[in-house]
Amino acid sequence: MQAIAVPPATATHDYSKGMRIWHWANATLVSGQLLTILFQKVIVNARSAVPEFQEAITKGGGSLTQQQGRAVAHVISERIWTWHVWMGVTLAAFWLFWTVMQALDPAGRRFGARLMAAARRYKLAAPAEHADARHALLAKLTYAAFYLFITIMVVTGLILIFADDVPFLNSIKHTAEETHNVTMYLIIGYIVLHVVGVVWAEITEDHGLVSRMVSGPADKQSPQD
Ligand code: HEM
Ligand code: HEM
Repeated sequence: MQAIAVPPATATHDYSKGMRIWHWANATLVSGQLLTILFQKVIVNARSAVPEFQEAITKGGGSLTQQQGRAVAHVISERIWTWHVWMGVTLAAFWLFWTVMQALDPAGRRFGARLMAAARRYKLAAPAEHADARHALLAKLTYAAFYLFITIMVVTGLILIFADDVPFLNSIKHTAEETHNVTMYLIIGYIVLHVVGVVWAEITEDHGLVSRMVSGPADKQSPQD
């Protein structure tokens, strides 16, 4: 009978250059998207600032009607949305890059293969390694969840971009908006869990984890790098 080998930890941990570029570009863009929302809804919140605009203009001896104030608020708000939309389109391009990379990467480096390797390691792990293998599998499952969330964000974001031009997309605009909104909270949850988890792993049992995501495997001799 043929013995089934336990995949080594590196099988789930070894990132290609393309993957590392994608990771940091994607992390920057997702953070940028969250920042635009923070500015739009909290820091600037142009709509709620209309009375302040009116007060400032009145102090200077002029006057500003509600309608004029709203028009000013709209201009500010549109500026922030323009940033959101362009970063969103860039994020969509990186999503496509990730998808193509999955098809082109050597079989063992694709996310699906790394997830399967983590599941096999967990199933076949010796009792002493069970906790480590379970932890690695859970981490991979959170990544799978993130890939689902980012796909939802890209699809619903594109629907919102084209909704005013395509009648069918316009009919599902409201659902897309709601889904886009709710998924943002799932992404925020993922980021908190991920960053805390990675930093915790780095300072406890997996020193060099973050630098491997920056500059690749420690030996640097990986042929696919
Ligand atoms: C918006 C922020 C971020 C997002 C969306 C994000 C997303 C991801 C995803 C999807 C993966 C899984 C890659 C895969 O196995 O296919 C990953 C892995 C990783 N990320 Fe992040 N990341 C973010 C921020 C960060 C930060 C700030 C750090 C460093 C402190 C970091 C360090 C890592 C490391 C070390 C791994 C590899 C972990 C492992 O092999 O299990 N990430 N990240
Ligand atoms: C992690 C990434 C993202 C986050 C956190 C995010 C968050 C949000 C939020 C909270 C809204 C407000 C929805 C509402 O008012 O009900 C919004 C609107 C929007 N988002 Fe995103 N989004 C992200 C990615 C994207 C992507 C990838 C695209 C495009 C491909 C996109 C395009 C849009 C558009 C077009 C709007 C509507 C803007 C408007 O009302 O003028 N977003 N986004």
